[in-house]
Amino acid sequence: MDSFEKKILVTGGAGFIGSNLVNYFVKKYPDYLIVNLDKLTYAGNLINLRDVENAPNYRFVKGDILDKSLLDKLFGQYDFDTVLHLAAESHVDRSIDSPDDFVHTNVTGTVNLLNVARKYWPNTEGKLFYHISTDEVYGSLGDTGKFTEKTCYDPHSPYSASKAASDHFVRAYYHTYGLPVIISNCSNNYGPYQFPEKLIPLTINNIIHNKPIPVYGRGENVRDWLYVEDHVRAIDLIMHQGRNGETYNIGGNNELKNIEVVEKLCEVTDEFLGRSPIGISKKLIRFVKDRAGHDWRYAIDINKIKTELGWQPAVRFDEGIRKTVQWYLDRQDWLKQVTSGAYRNYYDKMYKNRGL
Ligand code: NAD
Ligand code: DAU
Repeated sequence: MDSFEKKILVTGGAGFIGSNLVNYFVKKYPDYLIVNLDKLTYAGNLINLRDVENAPNYRFVKGDILDKSLLDKLFGQYDFDTVLHLAAESHVDRSIDSPDDFVHTNVTGTVNLLNVARKYWPNTEGKLFYHISTDEVYGSLGDTGKFTEKTCYDPHSPYSASKAASDHFVRAYYHTYGLPVIISNCSNNYGPYQFPEKLIPLTINNIIHNKPIPVYGRGENVRDWLYVEDHVRAIDLIMHQGRNGETYNIGGNNELKNIEVVEKLCEVTDEFLGRSPIGISKKLIRFVKDRAGHDWRYAIDINKIKTELGWQPAVRFDEGIRKTVQWYLDRQDWLKQVTSGAYRNYYDKMYKNRGL
């Protein structure tokens, strides 16, 4: 174990961003040991990690960040120097339906990890607790302006409130105990392995199966979309070169109204499926009751990470969305597998509630 240059605990590494990150880190850094701790909720799937499951520098541990004795055991066993904390309940709609899991995992789970890191890192030299967070902590923008690292926190959903609380705890451990920490707050990711409850994979899945596509309100809300690989590259850079105690905002410089995203997905998917005329799937679009407290617009000022670390998004939306649609079309086995079981009931109930 001591032969590894770094020993990294990744939490939530079987989810969307986590699995993209683990796949990337395990291959790029053969001298780093990557230990992936994941509870495998409905959102975590080991098939996301097939490519690396037998790699000599990778270990998987099924477990819950609420399990303090497990965290203690893992820190004792592996002597981690870095924590990349991604485990979370991540879906806003679910947080509206049942906030409790969000408080438990996102807030209490983060505090458990902070406590165990503090206990095992009396000497903080070379140590880093990196919390992967969201731009939603900043609340909602009107038609102009962008979130900077100095924007005041103003979370609106139970999800964003729980992420804001966890960010506050991370900073509190930096100020109070001197724990070395970094936080990054990122905008909407898209790409392979995203669970098909989120707008982009849900839309692609519904187009494939000729099912109605629910668009909340009038579809005019704006999100800033970032290809997941670009996010992973940013995390890599921040982990290695970011400054202790700092926050970095990450965004795609790519604001789109939801309806624009959905229409684009209809066109690209129709093209790839050979449906004619291209765009015919737009007939599946249904405007449904708006999300409660629906944030109007997110946009990110990426100046800090750009000037300090030289990062900027590399994948243009047109290119990223074509790669994404192609991936889901090629991996319909994956879509089928992750939407079977318990998720099916949630999905059916949601559709019934929306009158679809
Ligand atoms: P996801 O829902 O796809 O994956 C979350 C993972 O965490 C799953 O593998 C799940 O099994 C695991 N998990 C959940 N509860 C756990 C627990 N109690 N113990 C251990 N593991 C647990 O989420 P994602 O979209 O990949 O997001 C990852 C992180 O990035 C989250 O912290 C999220 O807030 C943040 N983030 C996401 C986005 C985005 O657009 N998806 C943007 C910015 C920030
Ligand atoms: O901004 C970062 C956040 O992006 C992350 O922190 C969250 O974990 C991630 O889930 C995402 O949150 P959103 O709520 O923005 O993502 P979602 O894909 O759920 O919705 C995107 C937009 O599309 C939002 O305005 C709501 C709308 N929408 C969503 C769904 C699921 C619809 O119109 N119809 C839908 O069926």
